[in-house]
Amino acid sequence: MAEKTYKIAWLPGDGIGVDVLDATKIVLDKLQLNAEYLHGDIGWEFWQKEGDAFPARTIELLKNVDAAMFGAITSKPVKAAEQELVPELQGKGLIYRSPIVRMRQMFDLYICLRPCKAYAGNLLNYKDDVDIVVFRENTEDLYSGVEFNPVPQELAEMLTRLSKPFAAFKDVPLNELAISSKIVTRQGSERIIRAAFEFARKNNRKKVTVVHKANVVRATEGMFLDIAKEIHQEYPEIEMDDANVDAICMWLLKNPKNYDVIVATNMFGDIISDLVAQMVGGLGFGCSGNIGLKLGVFEPSHGSAPKYAGQYKVNPIATVLSAKMMLDWLGETEKGARLEKAVAEVIKEGKIRTYDMGGSNTTLELGEAIAAKL
Ligand code: IPM
Ligand code: MG
Repeated sequence: MAEKTYKIAWLPGDGIGVDVLDATKIVLDKLQLNAEYLHGDIGWEFWQKEGDAFPARTIELLKNVDAAMFGAITSKPVKAAEQELVPELQGKGLIYRSPIVRMRQMFDLYICLRPCKAYAGNLLNYKDDVDIVVFRENTEDLYSGVEFNPVPQELAEMLTRLSKPFAAFKDVPLNELAISSKIVTRQGSERIIRAAFEFARKNNRKKVTVVHKANVVRATEGMFLDIAKEIHQEYPEIEMDDANVDAICMWLLKNPKNYDVIVATNMFGDIISDLVAQMVGGLGFGCSGNIGLKLGVFEPSHGSAPKYAGQYKVNPIATVLSAKMMLDWLGETEKGARLEKAVAEVIKEGKIRTYDMGGSNTTLELGEAIAAKL
């Protein structure tokens, strides 16, 4: 039977997204993955030119691929008033929303999987032997996009009727009031928590830690924690504990070995995953998969660092490890394992390092060094 040719959407975005994806391509080519790479337009440039950072043609492309590699995009907080400064967009009434957030929601990529492993010899490791996997809910919570500023009169009236604490804001002018909604569903919580437990079971992990703020944000975070306790019943061989998000930031630094698999709602997962990535060398090592039932989009968890764009200075390892996650997700686990081994060897040798790793090699030289080990 002929080997399958994968269709992979290639979405460099902008800033250093382009640099790190170029290095990743060197590695995938050396692995001889049987794939067709299909470029997709996405990012700030298309927002400025077309009023859409995630154009319809790119959405169509993603409907017809097996997986995607995504670099980074400059995600600026643009308010309606600032938008009017972009001449092409004047009067269009468009609102800028981060394309990656839209992509996660549109394609229901409900798992944000962020493994953080301290590779031996990485001078940037905070402590050796850290091996923590973060499962972040990826479609709901404060990312729901249900936000108001100013707050509409009807909403203020309704909240005055329904919520006692809202009385504290009754004299605030509506244009000086802002509301961002934290929306959490049972179904959304169940599926991310179950994904974390399933991962623990399949990978012989001992413990799942539920990160929350159930003591204060009771409706959403309290429900999330209750659901975790229910689902834990299905996985009696795995230990479960839970921690407030603030406390775990201290404990993670103090005793990283106490943590194994972490699961959290979207915003807390966003924050915790940066913290854990820093423990294993910083965002240059933070790989990430946005995974749904039909599509997986793999990306470094770092941003677009526009000031380094096109200089081929930054470390591509986070993206190369994201490509490893893509290979695993596609079922190409042998290639995935080879790739991780090659990355680990290059880190251990420490001969080829980019500036952020304390060296002076380029992004592409690091990609080539990894490819040479394959
Ligand atoms: C991440 C990033 C994104 C997020 C930004 C770029 C919108 O921080 O992937 O962690 O907040 O999810
Ligand atoms: Mg983040």
